[in-house]
Amino acid sequence: MKRKLVVGNWKMNGDRARNQLLLNQVLDGLPEEVDCAVCVPFPYLGQVQSIVSGTLLQVGAQNLSEFDSGAYTGEVSGAMLADFSVQYVIVGHSERRCLFGESDAMVARKAAAALRAGLKPVVCVGETLDERETGAVCEVLLRQLGALVNEIDVASLGKIVLAYEPVWAIGTGRTATAEQVQEVLLFMRTWLAGQVDDAGAVRILYGGSVKADSARAIFSLPDADGGLIGGASLEASQFVEVCEAAVMASRLGVR
Ligand code: PGA
Repeated sequence: MKRKLVVGNWKMNGDRARNQLLLNQVLDGLPEEVDCAVCVPFPYLGQVQSIVSGTLLQVGAQNLSEFDSGAYTGEVSGAMLADFSVQYVIVGHSERRCLFGESDAMVARKAAAALRAGLKPVVCVGETLDERETGAVCEVLLRQLGALVNEIDVASLGKIVLAYEPVWAIGTGRTATAEQVQEVLLFMRTWLAGQVDDAGAVRILYGGSVKADSARAIFSLPDADGGLIGGASLEASQFVEVCEAAVMASRLGVR
């Protein structure tokens, strides 16, 4: 059985009291047969790390600097995240690409910086609605994925996590159909096979309005290794149910 990976993305939400409550409730219900992390805002990394320490829940961040240290006011390095026992860091989320102007090249440099610090970058790729409607999905993905190989050597490329997040499905309540998701995941797996020795070992997640009721079908897809969960990661019962769906899918699945 291949364990699925469920990564919660809290985005810019939470406060100390709510974090404590949410994590207590998640830890109460979290099944064992799934790898699970929550990516939290920088100021709460210490708090969250101390709450989840010794449990199965791992901690992630939502961004990092492409630079390792120095005069970069306001930036947070991979080494700083590692210092807080952070395991995962989301890189290239569409909100960062669209709202903060992160280019494919910058995303790739950030992924490389994460790897240098011993973190697992969860590299997000995906098309906008316009790009889907004009038939540009493969072209967009190839551009976003292709940028990674300019910055990351073959040996390290196998250590990243990829997340397919169609921009039109994020926070919209609009989930891509199972067929649409599997088609893209397979495309990404095939691309990986051209780059690394064991493309099957690289985890590819799906993200975009995944909730408890849609998770099972998504996680059961042949090339889905788990999910990147936004809104539903802020509600303990939803998030736990998504994790349970991941366990069910990995018990039944081929992967
Ligand atoms: P969503 O967010 O689940 O709220 O659509 C996913 C994400 O942005 O990673």
